[in-house]
Amino acid sequence: MSQKRVLTGVKPTGTVHLGNYVGAIKPAVKLINDARDCFLFVADYHALNAVRDAKELKESSYSVAATYLAFGIDLDKTVFYRQSDIPQIFELATILAAVTPKGLMNRSHAYKAMIDKNTAAGKTGSELDDGVNMGLYTYPILMAADILIAQSDIVPVGKDQIQHIEMTRDMAGSFNHLFGETFKLPEFQVQESAGAIPGLDGQKMSKSYNNIIPLFETNKRRQKLIMKIVTDSKLPEEPKDPESSTIYQLYTQFGTEAEIAEMKKAFEQGGMGYGDAKKLLAEAVNRELEGPTELYNEWLENRAKLDELLDAGAETARAVAKDTIRDVRKAIGVKA
Ligand code: TRP
Repeated sequence: MSQKRVLTGVKPTGTVHLGNYVGAIKPAVKLINDARDCFLFVADYHALNAVRDAKELKESSYSVAATYLAFGIDLDKTVFYRQSDIPQIFELATILAAVTPKGLMNRSHAYKAMIDKNTAAGKTGSELDDGVNMGLYTYPILMAADILIAQSDIVPVGKDQIQHIEMTRDMAGSFNHLFGETFKLPEFQVQESAGAIPGLDGQKMSKSYNNIIPLFETNKRRQKLIMKIVTDSKLPEEPKDPESSTIYQLYTQFGTEAEIAEMKKAFEQGGMGYGDAKKLLAEAVNRELEGPTELYNEWLENRAKLDELLDAGAETARAVAKDTIRDVRKAIGVKA
């Protein structure tokens, strides 16, 4: 167990699916619960760069909060809050912007991806910035403020977010150099995860491919979807390659070790049909998700309690944020 402060933010998005669970939610909950001092927040102002619908932002913020609670984050040692409840984050973002070279933002992957997309669409000149709002452009500054305001030591992230932590260290380092030691330089910790898992059609599970199994569903509906997984037409007695089977790939994430080994053997020896394998998969998935689904629905039905909990978390987070911003103001010469 580590004494270090672990911080992570989750951007509210729409429907979460098994791929999000295996790739991000499950490993994050484990890291949070293994830490002794943890800050976890709903990154609602990060989502604002893309969401233009008040109801959608509100709903998905509640949904992401309920998701983490449903999977059992330990509230005794986790400060759980909304980014939008901590004004000091936005003050710090303004301060960091003043010491951040524009060139650093030009190198941000998220921004460059938009430029690449526009280039591929044949755009040139000022049209290359089409679809880029300033929030997206300065996303790394806001993220640095999220991290530095809480004096975090460790930030668990997926691989795609490593660059943001490196930029955070750059910004903190420049600030310290200019104004004296103020910030700790945070380290990233890459979340171990199974990576992408296949969806119903065998491609990577993704909303854009329309092949997802939603995380929070009734057992019946989850089973129904699992029965729709596309397979080849091998007969039960024919040997099958487990590694190229969507059913088996998903089973490796939900079965017990013994169950996984058993399915592997049955596939290789030609002792199991796809229908039976799907039933086993549905049982394993439902076994793991039935309880959390119930909790998720309970939390969403009790938003007053959710608000209460997030408000309490925000109060604790604000106390830390106020200390940080006081030091920062002193360092730069603004009345503290
Ligand atoms: N950018 C992160 C993502 O898209 C979410 C995020 C916002 C975050 N602020 C953060 C993650 C601070 C870790 C620390 O997944």
